[in-house]
Amino acid sequence: MKIKLIFLLIFNLLLFNKTFSDEKFDLGKDIFLNAGNCGACHSLKDANAVGNIGPNLNEIKPDLGRVVNSVTNGIGVMPSFIQILSKEEINAVAYYVSESSKN
Ligand code: HEC
Repeated sequence: MKIKLIFLLIFNLLLFNKTFSDEKFDLGKDIFLNAGNCGACHSLKDANAVGNIGPNLNEIKPDLGRVVNSVTNGIGVMPSFIQILSKEEINAVAYYVSESSKN
């Protein structure tokens, strides 16, 4: 019985963390969908994005640094977002993309 209770507690804590306290993830998602408009060019399942001008982010699964670099400096046809997004916003969208594309 006790074990079950502890299990339940841990499970709830994990769930709570994931659902309610990942503000950076939520901010990043909002930027992906709106200010960054990344979905116009990229596919990403979590965002229901189906753009196909740039690589499918679920396939390349970029880490945080790779997203920060491409969004900050631009790469190939992809423009730099340095005039559009703040550093914090670039970090948030990079966090969102690297975390959500892992799955
Ligand atoms: C105008 C279309 C366009 C938009 C908007 C766009 N991208 Fe891209 N993106 C591309 C293209 C094209 C590439 C491939 C560039 C290349 O490798 O030459 C790319 C590449 C990338 C890469 C891979 C970089 C690498 O190292 O290979 C990431 C990560 C990425 N984009 C994330 C984003 C994010 C996040 C946003 C929104 C802030 C975004 N992109 C907005 C077109 C776009």
